Amino acid sequence: MKTIIYNIKTIYTSTEKPPVKGKNMSLIREIHDPYIIIEDDIIKAVKTGDYHKDLSDSCELYDAKNKIMVPGLIDSHTHLVFAGSRESEFSKKIAGVPYLDILKAGGGILNTVEATKNASFDELYQQSKKSLDQMLRFGVTSLEVKSGYGLDLQTEMKQLKVAKKLNENHPIDIYITYLGAHALPKEYKDRRQEYISQIIADLQIIKNEKLAEYADVFCETGVFTAKETNEILSHAKALGFKLRLHADEIDSIGGSKVGINMQAKTLDHLMAITEEDMDLLAKSKTIANLLPSTSFFLNKDYAPARKMIDKGVAIAVSSDYNPGSTPSENYQLTLQIAGNKLRMLPAEILTASTMNPAYSLDIHDIVGSIEVGKKADLVLLDCPNLDYFIYHYGINHTFAVFKNGKLLV
Ligand code: NIG
Ligand code: FE
Repeated sequence: MKTIIYNIKTIYTSTEKPPVKGKNMSLIREIHDPYIIIEDDIIKAVKTGDYHKDLSDSCELYDAKNKIMVPGLIDSHTHLVFAGSRESEFSKKIAGVPYLDILKAGGGILNTVEATKNASFDELYQQSKKSLDQMLRFGVTSLEVKSGYGLDLQTEMKQLKVAKKLNENHPIDIYITYLGAHALPKEYKDRRQEYISQIIADLQIIKNEKLAEYADVFCETGVFTAKETNEILSHAKALGFKLRLHADEIDSIGGSKVGINMQAKTLDHLMAITEEDMDLLAKSKTIANLLPSTSFFLNKDYAPARKMIDKGVAIAVSSDYNPGSTPSENYQLTLQIAGNKLRMLPAEILTASTMNPAYSLDIHDIVGSIEVGKKADLVLLDCPNLDYFIYHYGINHTFAVFKNGKLLV
């Protein structure tokens, strides 16, 4: 099956070799008035000039109506699969009760854990599918999804299996992370080490059942210490998991160093990262996965993105979609907040939402840019240029989404 997409105003794509670090993140290739030839699910050619010479009998034509095109967006940090919602804690949050205090009082993550334990597989599937459909409409074509609202093997596996089934049935490609170390369950309050040993035992089972490719830990004051994080991630790595890590979200307690030493694929959040850790990160292949929607919703500081770029760190920007700190599927809004609050340039943001997250998920050879040989995951935006996409905030700019060469939105 051959398709030609013609009448494209401009293609914007990184073509840098990832991890794309520091200033190189702003190197974006612009191709004006191009057309694209897709065969099956692959980009066969990106050309300029008259497309008629490439027409053949069974060829389908798609008029892009002079819209701009970017690669399918890649959101590399979400907690997609959970039950219920947390608007009941919203008034407390507005009144200024800190996130970690709500958690300490048995709310927060533990509230969602309760709801997720009580939900059936199908309820979880349907709720997550609804969010996925929305994400696709915002132009997301690849997604990372974490467990972490079970905190017992059975419920964690239920979440992971929902993610796996969604990956099989839904057009968005899903990459799965086990986050058993998301919080300490209430019943383990005075038996921390026992829970950690439990996670380590469960890692083996999850590996055997091929339910997750990545392991993650929430390393934070009152959650898991750097030492505990090191213990869990060392076992995960030895079992063949690739690593991601919630680090330096609220306090800097040593998580970043643990992650860098263990060659984690990403360090996520990093609002409280130290200068020293930024320097270490710049020398590594680990991606700084920044989540500005979380800062926005928790009324917290933003990660020092400009400083990281100056130091040569490779950055991705992700939504962190979850019921506690980022209840929004609007990934485009996340990118617009990255502009306004992380003070990243539109070109840097494009790299941070395509090529770098692709690298962090080991899929940069197949997606993350508009280049011959890659999958035809393409988004048309109803914007005159890339700057406008980031500047005109809060709405959905999607005009069309092609996933694996098929028009879906
Ligand atoms: O990434 N930081 C930890 N986990 C999520 C929040 C989860 C929740 O509050 O339900 C996050 O922000
Ligand atoms: Fe998170």
